Amino acid sequence: MIFPLPTCQRACWLGQIAAVGGVLLMLGGCAGEQSALDPAGRGAEQIAALFWWMLGGAVVIWCIVVGLAIYAIRIAPGPHDDRQMRLWVIGGGAVIPTLVLTVLLIYGLSMLPGLVRAAPEGSLQVDVVGLQWWWQVRYPASESVKLANEIRIPVGEPVQFNLTSADVIHSFWIPALGGKVDMVPGRETRLTLEPTRTGRFRGVCAEYCGASHALMAFDVVVMERAAFDEWLAAQQEPAKEPQGPLEVRGREVFLRRGCGACHAVRGTRADGVIGPDLTHVGGRASLGAGTLENSPDAFRKWIAHTSRTKPAVRMPDFDMIPEADMRALAAYLESLQ
Ligand code: CUA
Repeated sequence: MIFPLPTCQRACWLGQIAAVGGVLLMLGGCAGEQSALDPAGRGAEQIAALFWWMLGGAVVIWCIVVGLAIYAIRIAPGPHDDRQMRLWVIGGGAVIPTLVLTVLLIYGLSMLPGLVRAAPEGSLQVDVVGLQWWWQVRYPASESVKLANEIRIPVGEPVQFNLTSADVIHSFWIPALGGKVDMVPGRETRLTLEPTRTGRFRGVCAEYCGASHALMAFDVVVMERAAFDEWLAAQQEPAKEPQGPLEVRGREVFLRRGCGACHAVRGTRADGVIGPDLTHVGGRASLGAGTLENSPDAFRKWIAHTSRTKPAVRMPDFDMIPEADMRALAAYLESLQ
């Protein structure tokens, strides 16, 4: 016998249907440069497969539980048999969850060695240091290259990331390429990633590390081997000489204002090591670790209102620099391609 649902119960069911619809809609949007469900690397492929298996299993279990609830409440309501009730509680509440979780645990753990294995001898090595709130990137085979917040790697090859931190615990994560690994001060951790297609992806810090934790992204560009070699060779070159009078004045402002105490621009006397190396800063996709698009206006905003753009950042605001000098400085930095 089927009883009509009271209004509140109907609303509850409608809510559940809306929630399921919402989840499906959200899953439809799970693509793009920062999605673990749109894998572009071997590790991410495995993790995505694990996710879909878990989601499939969860949906099956959810349907069974809801089906049983409907059966018990609406189709055959009535007193319960004691023995049967105990069977359901022990079977459904202990035995089945233990079995399901054990299978999932074994499946998940079996992936681990592959995800954190060392890359084969001779693979590209990339050293990344996490700092509040940016990333220093170095290629040990090309000693002069020091990047900030941008990593480029070749497609179809395992790349070994050697990770450490200069201050607090950060976590290095490029969702589209693979899993995340903590960066711990005083220790070196390792992650091997193998991108399977070219493209631009977004990496993030996955461990709360202070006020600007959310403003600590980085760009990952996966390139064909030949294009990567060409790019790396260009990165080893010192900074370009300024071309026009505005850029010449910008470099003069840069050096006179003491920017070189914290930042290096190879080929000038600026050799600071506290902040990001700016030798090729104009060629990067973003400023302030993914905080601003790279443009002359963004440089001006960043330099004059640093602390407003990125709370608790170590670089002071240089809002005292006159407008004409600031324009020249921005043009100079933008020209450092
Ligand atoms: Cu670094 Cu969160």
